[in-house]
Amino acid sequence: MTVPEHVAIIMDGNGRWAKQRGLPRTMGHRKGVDAVRETVRAAGDIGVKYLTLFAFSSENWRRPETEVSDLLGLLKAFIRRDLAELHRQNVRVKIIGDRHSLQNDILDLLIDAEETTKANTALTLIIAFNYGARDEIARAMASLARDVEQGRLRSQDITPALITARLDTSGIPDPDLIIRTSGEERLSNFLLWQAAYSEFIFIPDYWPDFSRETFHAALETFASRNRRFGGLVAEAAAAVGT
Ligand code: IPE
Ligand code: IPE
Ligand code: MG
Repeated sequence: MTVPEHVAIIMDGNGRWAKQRGLPRTMGHRKGVDAVRETVRAAGDIGVKYLTLFAFSSENWRRPETEVSDLLGLLKAFIRRDLAELHRQNVRVKIIGDRHSLQNDILDLLIDAEETTKANTALTLIIAFNYGARDEIARAMASLARDVEQGRLRSQDITPALITARLDTSGIPDPDLIIRTSGEERLSNFLLWQAAYSEFIFIPDYWPDFSRETFHAALETFASRNRRFGGLVAEAAAAVGT
C-alpha cells in the first residue's frame, strides 16, 4: 500500500458529538484530544512522515469566550501532559499559524515543544494553531514585499517555489491527503496554497469517534487514487510548484 508522506486532518464535529449525547460542547473537545493521541500513534506506526492537525483556526476566535478559553486550555494541557511522551516516541513537533498575537504562556509552551523535539526523526506533528491560510499567505506576501522594498529581491524573480518557502509550512512537503471528519466538505481556510494537488477524503464520523481503523480505511482509499498532477500518467513525483 502507498502510504502518504503527509496527511493533514481537519478535526471537525466535537460540538455535534457532545450535543448528540446531551453533553456540553467542551466534553466533545476533551474526547477529541483522545482521538488526537490515537491518531498520532497510528500515523507514526504506519510510517506517515508528516501529520498536520487543524486545532484552532484564525476564525475560531469568533466563538463564545468560554469555548475559546476551553480550547486554549486543552491545548496547553495537551502540551504539558503529552510532550514527554511525544518526545519518547521520537516525534518532532512544529507549530503553524500566526504567533504574534498569542498569549505569552501559550507561546512559551509552543516554542518549548518545538525546541525540545527539534532533533527527533520519526513523525513530524504539525499543529495548526491560530492558523488561517489567507493570513499565512498574506504574511508571506508581506515578507516578500519587504525584500523587494529593501532591494534584496526583484519582483520578476518571485516564483511559486519562493512563495512556498515563505509560508509557515516552509520545508514541509505539501499534504498528499487531507481528511475532514463530521461530514462537512469544505476547507475552512486550511492550507489553501499547499492543497493544490492534495487528495480529499470526507468522513461522516465526528472527530471524537475517529480511530486507528477509520484512519487505516482512509489510507486504503488514498492508495487506490490515481494522482496525475496535470499529466497523463500517475506520478510519484512531488506536487507542482514546489
Ligand atoms: C472541531 O469541532 C474543533 C474545533 C473547530 C476547534 P467543532 O467545535 O467545530 O464541532 P462542531 O463542528 O461544532 O460539531
Ligand atoms: C475548522 O472547523 C477549524 C478546525 C477544525 C480547527 P470549523 O468548525 O471552525 O469550520 P466551519 O466554521 O464549520 O467552516
Ligand atoms: Mg466545526
